[in-house]
Amino acid sequence: MVSADIPDRLKRFEIPGRVTLLEGNGDLPKIEVTTDSSTAEIYLHGAQVTDFRKKDEPPLLFTSQFSRFGKAQAIRGGVPIIFPWFGPREGEPSHGFARLSDWELHEATALPQGGVTLRFNLPEVADSATWPPFTANYVVRVTDALEMELIITNAAADEEFSFENCLHTYLAVGDISGVSVSGLRGATYLNAIDNYAQKTDGGDALRIQGEVDRIYLDTKSAVEVSDPKWQRRIRIDKEGSASTVVWNPWIAKSQQMPDFGNEEYKQMLCVESGNVARNRVVLAPGRSSVLKVRLSSAAL
Ligand code: BG6
Repeated sequence: MVSADIPDRLKRFEIPGRVTLLEGNGDLPKIEVTTDSSTAEIYLHGAQVTDFRKKDEPPLLFTSQFSRFGKAQAIRGGVPIIFPWFGPREGEPSHGFARLSDWELHEATALPQGGVTLRFNLPEVADSATWPPFTANYVVRVTDALEMELIITNAAADEEFSFENCLHTYLAVGDISGVSVSGLRGATYLNAIDNYAQKTDGGDALRIQGEVDRIYLDTKSAVEVSDPKWQRRIRIDKEGSASTVVWNPWIAKSQQMPDFGNEEYKQMLCVESGNVARNRVVLAPGRSSVLKVRLSSAAL
């Protein structure tokens, strides 16, 4: 697509050889980032990173070939920003309005070491009868790792702001049957496929052998995903996150999702960092919360 169709207010953020604005799928504006060691793609719709890959490595993020790309729809893959609620909510879209909103790009910077930082903010989209006034900012830093930072500030003078958030990261894997997840040993989780029953993780690394949909509570440490097929280890470092969600839809759920291929469950695993359920964030007036996730990879 030609970047001539992108309005000047966005084109001014272009940095030759580093940051390009173009029309992506569904004619939605997309940012392409090139660094010395990696490439990335970010849609303004949802401020959603849909691709990140290091040079000479398979993609780190999975985005479905069947994803929809439209104003009213969530993109299936990459890193959807889940805010201000996680999961279903009666009469409202699943996982909140942040991933359905068009965010504003307000800064693009080339870093001296060859990386790129992008800064976004969420325009006023929330129903003011339901939500206290707040600001939402998002920073994406692309280097040989992908760093994302969601900053929520309670702008109310005298009201608490209580919300859930999550960076719903779809990791790309070579073959889910060989994958194992470490860092959650002994943690308590809510099992979404068993009516959110509370359970405790067993001893060893988690293997994915069927549908998995778990909210691990009080898990603040890094998680590692080992992928023997691609001989790669993905590390998820995080700050300001007390919950870790692990999700793979497996066979039946994949078939039910119109924006996801029947076989694609073999190529992805969501390991999501946020603050969900009893870990939800409660912000006093004037206070901010920062949720930070860093994705990096190394050979197995
Ligand atoms: C996960 C949830 O985070 O997101 C799952 O734990 C859910 O229960 C999945 O199915 C996908 O949600 P959505 O709204 O993007 O289809």
